[in-house]
Amino acid sequence: MVSMQLQEILFSQGFGTRRVCAGLIQQGLVTIAGTPIVDPAMEFVAIGLHFTVQGTPWQYHEKAYLMLHKPAGYECSQKPSTYPSIYTLLPAPIRQRGGGAAAGVQAVGRLDQDTTGLLLLSDDGKFIHRMSSPKHHVPKVYQVTAKHPVDESQIQKLLSGVVLDDDPKPVRAAACGKTGENTLSLTLTEGKYHQVKRMIAAVGNRVEDMAGLHRSQIGELVLPADLKAGQWRWLTAQDLLAISAKPASGA
Ligand code: URA
Repeated sequence: MVSMQLQEILFSQGFGTRRVCAGLIQQGLVTIAGTPIVDPAMEFVAIGLHFTVQGTPWQYHEKAYLMLHKPAGYECSQKPSTYPSIYTLLPAPIRQRGGGAAAGVQAVGRLDQDTTGLLLLSDDGKFIHRMSSPKHHVPKVYQVTAKHPVDESQIQKLLSGVVLDDDPKPVRAAACGKTGENTLSLTLTEGKYHQVKRMIAAVGNRVEDMAGLHRSQIGELVLPADLKAGQWRWLTAQDLLAISAKPASGA
């Protein structure tokens, strides 16, 4: 197992420049197993390492894979135009990991500012590419609240395919079902711009304006009930397996 200097470990995890990281260590603000380590050059096996920085517990992650429960009223952009950025919901080290121009994690695809639910973020370019590539057809499940009552003919049209204004090729839901008077569940394996809202409009209904759209699942990974809007957590190895699992077992 490869050892790394403690200042390099902190630097790789987004705690600032090498100088800042060395300073944090020299001031006794970094502990391992409860003991302050004051030598920035002391080496540790990084994989699996737990430490605290200024009292906050942290674990070394070679690459970052997280899920965020996106609240309404946040934009998935680093430079938002109207609403705050989702990136403000993450701790500074996660936003600064790696340093340089392409620092920090990036969202895997985007949700509209008024959409809530499961959003993945990572600093692993290959993972982001694989998850966002239309070739991979990772199913995404959305819960829709519509302005008007949902009827069976709308569900059938969503399943058989509707034509959107930018492409003559019909787009269809991989699964779709009514879940209440004005609500439905819809599974998509592609991600065109505003796709759910445009599909619902194409069948003569409309997604409710605020929080009418919620993403509840990506692949087999379901947004955990205890992850409240605005909260994030690291993905586990099991979560990562669930995302690459192909089948969407229906809406
Ligand atoms: N489809 C939409 O219309 N909006 C989203 O945020 C996601 C899917």
